Amino acid sequence: MPVLNVHGATVSYGGRAVVRGVDLAVAPGEAVALMGANGSGKSTLIKAVAGLVPLAGGTIELFGTAQKRFRDWKRVGYVPQRTGAASGVPSTAAEVVSQGRLAHRLLGMPSRRADRDAVARSLDEVGLADHAHCSVDTLSGGQQQRVLIARALATDPELLIMDEPTVGVDAETQAALAAVVADRIDAGCAVLLVTHELGPLTDRLDRAVVLADGRVVHDGEPPRPVGEHADPGHQHSHPHSNGQTAEDFWGGK
Ligand SMILES: Nc1ncnc2c1ncn2[C@@H]1O[C@H](COP(=O)(O)OP(=O)(O)OP(=O)(O)O)[C@@H](O)[C@H]1O
Ligand SMILES: [Mg+2]
Repeated sequence: MPVLNVHGATVSYGGRAVVRGVDLAVAPGEAVALMGANGSGKSTLIKAVAGLVPLAGGTIELFGTAQKRFRDWKRVGYVPQRTGAASGVPSTAAEVVSQGRLAHRLLGMPSRRADRDAVARSLDEVGLADHAHCSVDTLSGGQQQRVLIARALATDPELLIMDEPTVGVDAETQAALAAVVADRIDAGCAVLLVTHELGPLTDRLDRAVVLADGRVVHDGEPPRPVGEHADPGHQHSHPHSNGQTAEDFWGGK
């Protein structure tokens, strides 16, 4: 049973459909890249999955449960596209990460001690243990992004959805975060990663789904490393792309 099953999903803003009839399934433990040009609907699609924007049509199931009835949000980690964790009331890195533990706390299951430990562990994973008590608006952009990743990790999710999580993060930290996510994949966590770049996680991806203009135009093999594309013998047709051009494949204009 897929951890995520999106069927015929349509999302509209002000009457304009920006996600149009998307089918997308993610199996347990599978790592899937969601790609496509700016404005192709990637963030909107995953906001719909996270329950942050309503569907105009279609269905979303999480862990076999219709999203409407789904209450087990701690099983889902969500890293939004960079919006500034600091917006609104200033809070410390530890406070932002502890928001991820809210679902656990509301259920009253783990003790506060367990929450504090999970928060400390997640901050440590992203290399911010020393910044736990810093106000997030005093952190750099890349550090704020790492706080959002720590927040998503804090509930030990079984599905980790990340929207361009390493934009603005330096190469060394990107590699460190990729290792953190790879560990979660090894532990059986499924990943849906919105990305433009073939970063350090590329070789861990099982599949890539490419959106263009709100529709899926590719669902299959992840893109090959640049070196292979540059190979003079490389054919610019892909086994799953129905003979589309590279531009079609990438959703470019
Ligand atoms: N809150 C909103 N209200 C109205 N239109 C929106 C809103 N959010 C996004 N859109 C529009 O929906 C379309 C898809 O946007 P979306 O953010 O999903 O694209 P994206 O694929 O994530 O792009 P990027 O790579 O730039 O992050 C765009 O045309 C955008 O202008
Ligand atoms: Mg986006």
